[in-house]
Amino acid sequence: MQIQNKFNHNTKIVGVIGHPIKHSFSPLMHNIAFELSGLNYIYLPFDVPPSALKDSLRGMIALGIKGFNVTIPLKEKVLPHLKDISEEASIIGAVNTIVNDDGILRGYNTDVLGVIESLLPYKDDLQGATVTVIGAGGASRSVIYSLIRNFKVERINIVNRTEQLAESLKDYFSTKMLFSNIKSYPLVPPDLVDVFRNSKLIVNTTSIGMYPDVDDAATTIPESFTKDQIVFDVVYTPVKTKLLKIAESQGASIITGLKMFVEQGAKSYEIWTGEQMPKEKVFKALESYLLS
Ligand code: ATR
Repeated sequence: MQIQNKFNHNTKIVGVIGHPIKHSFSPLMHNIAFELSGLNYIYLPFDVPPSALKDSLRGMIALGIKGFNVTIPLKEKVLPHLKDISEEASIIGAVNTIVNDDGILRGYNTDVLGVIESLLPYKDDLQGATVTVIGAGGASRSVIYSLIRNFKVERINIVNRTEQLAESLKDYFSTKMLFSNIKSYPLVPPDLVDVFRNSKLIVNTTSIGMYPDVDDAATTIPESFTKDQIVFDVVYTPVKTKLLKIAESQGASIITGLKMFVEQGAKSYEIWTGEQMPKEKVFKALESYLLS
């Protein structure tokens, strides 16, 4: 056996806290990135229920853990425990990245940056456009924030299974960001044909179509697209969801959830390490892993 002393007193620890945590692909992504760039870091998953959140952050400081990603159900709950919160995280009310700056915990929302980077190639198309966002949870907030702040869209439709939640998001963004051209709709397919047809961009922020229920999309979200439309799915297992496959086969432009996942991860990586993640290589490695 050849012994490799990879980790030592200089190794910096980062990780993800959440509950449950076993489905996260973040450890794989970040450890691939550290390996590729030769940084002396390790990324670990920590199963932290809400009752252990405060202690886990104390432990982070005591042990000198450099950073955490934060996932369900802690993204909102973590805010009161942080010293400093970035503008986007404070408007959205959710943090997905914490950095420990010598005992001072700062929070960011890099999902927003993941959305911005994913949509950037379509910036001109989105100016003044009508867009439709399916879902009204945390991912939806990141998407809507980015669309208002960075893409100057004209109108946003929020479509959600529970219409009341879409309605609350509508009120939330008109108050917090003074953007009032938002309409909410229940996710009832026959009524939505025109809403989807008139949208330049359609974003799925729900888990519809996620492995193992990969065929779900057909019954709930649109099936008819044009070449002028852009379809973005935040789901990345499978890499090409049913929604994206249909959209692509009809000539629409597609954006995968894997793109967004890597972009948000790259921003967290940069916040912790001060270095750029080798994004293209990491994307390729994850893509081939998920396709295998
Ligand atoms: P996330 O942080 O990933 O956005 P979330 O906050 O739990 O997760 O939000 C999940 C969103 O996906 C919600 O809008 C949810 O709809 P409801 O508000 O009606 O619960 C939506 N969603 C999840 N599974 C769905 C399904 N099978 N069909 C339709 N919508 C679904």
